[in-house]
Amino acid sequence: MYRDVSSCNTYNYGDALYWDARYVMEAGGAFDWYQRYSSLRPFIRNYVPTSSRVLMVGCGNALMSEDMVKDGYEDIMNIDISSVAIDMMRRKYEYIPQLKYMQMDVRDMSFFGDESFDGIIDKGTLDSLMCGTDAPISASRMLGEVSRLLKPGGIYMLITYGDPSVRMPHLSRPAYNWTIVLYNLPRPDFKRPGGISSTRSYLEPVPITERGLIPADFVLEDPDSHFIYVCKKMDDTELSRISTHPLTADIL
Ligand SMILES: C[S@@+](CC[C@H](N)C(=O)[O-])C[C@H]1O[C@@H](n2cnc3c(N)ncnc32)[C@H](O)[C@@H]1O
Repeated sequence: MYRDVSSCNTYNYGDALYWDARYVMEAGGAFDWYQRYSSLRPFIRNYVPTSSRVLMVGCGNALMSEDMVKDGYEDIMNIDISSVAIDMMRRKYEYIPQLKYMQMDVRDMSFFGDESFDGIIDKGTLDSLMCGTDAPISASRMLGEVSRLLKPGGIYMLITYGDPSVRMPHLSRPAYNWTIVLYNLPRPDFKRPGGISSTRSYLEPVPITERGLIPADFVLEDPDSHFIYVCKKMDDTELSRISTHPLTADIL
């Protein structure tokens, strides 16, 4: 169910041993999946204030958190299932007090109390779980934990290759109380045919139908583009507004 194995190829991205071996091979190098912070900055700065307590889930050896600190972020907790990545990153950044590192599985983040974070950023980690065994169960455990850790009004920002047909069924569970805004970004190296410049602003949200899909007439310029799901955990005021609506309708 909802398992988009087409992008998993032959690697077991859901397996900690795969990632440990990969980070040993990369020997202290750095690599950012999908997009660098410079392309994501307008979205992150718009939704996650620099004073936020941020959780970076599945940080790997990306430069993303370092770039965020250079841009003013004050408190970023980075976690990853790979102890190789975490040991390496902790050593590399011991001189940056705004960055903290812990080895942890996103499916069990019980180390942190409820409502601990204002912003949770995920670039490629839910995608990795979707390639593992028991993908739907892993995704539901991870997203349940993400929802628990977010403060009311907090943001879970998911950067993924997964289009709404394969991600919305996981993200739109009523228990999470998330409102979702979707954006679409071409790959950094994408070239438009004929070099024509785009008429669309990537800072405009992509419409989503009531069934959680992209409208049939919406054209993705880059068929292998990336999606940004901005999931906002509703606060008490927003929740009470929603829960009083059906009652009013019944009475009328
Ligand atoms: C596709 S990489 C993305 C790395 C980084 N976020 C980036 O943007 O370059 C996925 C990362 O998720 C980590 N990961 C996979 N399964 C995990 C789990 N269950 N808990 C925590 N991290 C996990 C991997 O070790 C890997 O570093």
